[in-house]
Amino acid sequence: MKYNDNAKNDLTALSKGAFLISQDAGQTNIMTIAWGAIGNIWGKPVFIALVRKSRFTHELINNSNEFTVTIPHEDMSEALALCGTKSGREMDKMEFLGLKTVPSKEIKTPTLDCKGTHYECMVLYKTDMKPSELDELTKERWYGDNDFHTVYFAEIVNTTEK
Ligand SMILES: Cc1cc2nc3c(=O)[nH]c(=O)nc-3n(C[C@H](O)[C@H](O)[C@H](O)COP(=O)(O)O)c2cc1C
Repeated sequence: MKYNDNAKNDLTALSKGAFLISQDAGQTNIMTIAWGAIGNIWGKPVFIALVRKSRFTHELINNSNEFTVTIPHEDMSEALALCGTKSGREMDKMEFLGLKTVPSKEIKTPTLDCKGTHYECMVLYKTDMKPSELDELTKERWYGDNDFHTVYFAEIVNTTEK
């Protein structure tokens, strides 16, 4: 399927919560995301994800340069809540929740095994937010703790729906 076949519904669903899986050196971790975008950049389908530097996920993506995103098409609100509040540094969230993965087609990081749209993503460009360039109201609203995001622009190398 094409990367944007489900884009309208998926972008709406993303704002309520989706899963991002990262993996490095045999460690696989899942976290909840709600900010992101899908578009066409550099002539490629791109997923833009924002991950704060404090996240375990940040470390794993920086090492592997890849991740998968799943927009669930079933109610996974309990898993989204846990994956959005507990860190993979403290616990194995997938094991605790009984979440399973399947191998991805184009990258090493696995894909969540659930009903949804699944994006396999390879980082093309990343940039750390510069506080000096940020609108003051946005800074006050979202970055009182100075935990800024790294913005990852990742090529969507495969899209599947289950
Ligand atoms: C609904 C929801 C959306 C979230 N979206 C993001 C996001 O887009 N980027 C981010 O860095 N953290 C986001 N978080 C917070 C992380 O999911 C949370 O800090 C998580 O525990 C990080 O896990 P990790 O340390 O295992 O990577 C969100 C949390 C929730 C509940």
